[in-house]
Amino acid sequence: MSATSSETIHRNHFYILVLSTIAAIAGLLFGFDTGVISGALQFIVDTFHIIAPTATLAPTYSVFGLFGVNGTTIQEVIVSAVPAGALIGAILSSFLSNAFGRRGGIITTAVLFIIGTLFAATAINTDMLIIGRLIMGFAVGLSATIAPMYLSEVSPPDIRGMVVFLFQMAITVGILSAFIVNFLFHINGNWRAMFLVGLAPSVLLFVGMLFLPESPRWLVLKGKHEKAHHALHKLRGHEAVSGEVAEIKESIRNAKGNFRMLFSKRLRPLVFITFGLFVFQQFTGINTIFYYAPTLFKAAGFEGSTSQILALVSTGAINVFATIFGVWFIDRLGRRKLLYVGLVGIILCQLIMGAAYHQLLGTNIRWLTLFSSLALIVFFAFSMGGIPYIMMSELFPLNMRAGGMAVASCANWGFNILVSATFLTIVDVFGFGNAYWLYAFLTFLGLVFAISLIPETKNRTLEHIEKNLYAGKKPRDLGN
Ligand code: BGC
Repeated sequence: MSATSSETIHRNHFYILVLSTIAAIAGLLFGFDTGVISGALQFIVDTFHIIAPTATLAPTYSVFGLFGVNGTTIQEVIVSAVPAGALIGAILSSFLSNAFGRRGGIITTAVLFIIGTLFAATAINTDMLIIGRLIMGFAVGLSATIAPMYLSEVSPPDIRGMVVFLFQMAITVGILSAFIVNFLFHINGNWRAMFLVGLAPSVLLFVGMLFLPESPRWLVLKGKHEKAHHALHKLRGHEAVSGEVAEIKESIRNAKGNFRMLFSKRLRPLVFITFGLFVFQQFTGINTIFYYAPTLFKAAGFEGSTSQILALVSTGAINVFATIFGVWFIDRLGRRKLLYVGLVGIILCQLIMGAAYHQLLGTNIRWLTLFSSLALIVFFAFSMGGIPYIMMSELFPLNMRAGGMAVASCANWGFNILVSATFLTIVDVFGFGNAYWLYAFLTFLGLVFAISLIPETKNRTLEHIEKNLYAGKKPRDLGN
């Protein structure tokens, strides 16, 4: 390779990284909006007098009061409005990203983030707060599907894994920022300010996206070849993009997509793989740690505020740092190796956590529980954290990508809600120890699933993967 062409490549890798950082702000908002409620809730309870768990709320604060809904339920609705909104967003993401484009879709979600945040932060009653949180959730669900799609479609194959992994990295930074914001505003109990912090990245996302090119693959899909040419030129930094445009054109010769095709014999396995990856991502129990860390550490023997601070700083920070490994290694070691190592590590940690809570490894379980849950986060962060997003954005053929990703994302949110909503009940009935052993068993199934089905897509163009699919290769061989 000549010096100039390698220089062009480096310059453009830099451009792609700047572009991904902007688009990945959507991930930051995902992490922030799901994380911020844990610190805000107790102050919201004070403001709207959601006092005794069984007392009903005054109708001035909520229409739920008219139906005699009690305080605990109202709190659950406030918390779960984001994941519920996200589930709806995931379902509708394919219409938005097909109709308005990937860039257009992300710009729309930025506007929704702004509206939802303003609604929630200025809420005069719990109904307004719930509506605001639903809108935020809707934006989270849309962007968690459309942003990885955009990132994957604009990237050159040699750094595509890394670029999509940056989205996961942004989620982790968002979660950590939420914990820090909770901690800072905790002193004066200002939950409105906690929400309002989310406004800055939303505006940045909106403005930043205005300057970025549309996905050339979507442009070709819509027959806008001239514009696709321009977008690719900007993305690759050189004029010689006709070959790539031709390859994309060639790939969409395969029939116009309609939703039913997703369940055809050819595409069904892809739906199964990507949906399954998100199911197993949630079955690791990762969110039982993020959502209930203070409870977990308290049960292991850490006292009140110490456990809160430990949870806050250590889980959030380690998640960010370990994700950097993933970003760095995904295109060097490949998807499969990271996935296998990560899953085996997660299973070991779950087994140790279970044994610790059963007091099989001694009675002083504080440090063991803390270290095993932090280690679980590490193994998760470089594997099951980012890889489901990468796989869903790589495997589907262009004409079915938006629909396929929407279905896979439903598993993300549906099983997020399922696992986090059932965790405390499972613990009540079976205990902490058995809960983590159950997750270990489910994650073991995830390992078998990964070994038998996940292809290695490192360094392959999306069109190459698509060609293999139409040549009738098995799912596991799609990257060969
Ligand atoms: C998952 C989230 C999780 C986060 C933790 C994401 O990949 O989808 O449910 O909270 O990782 O970093």
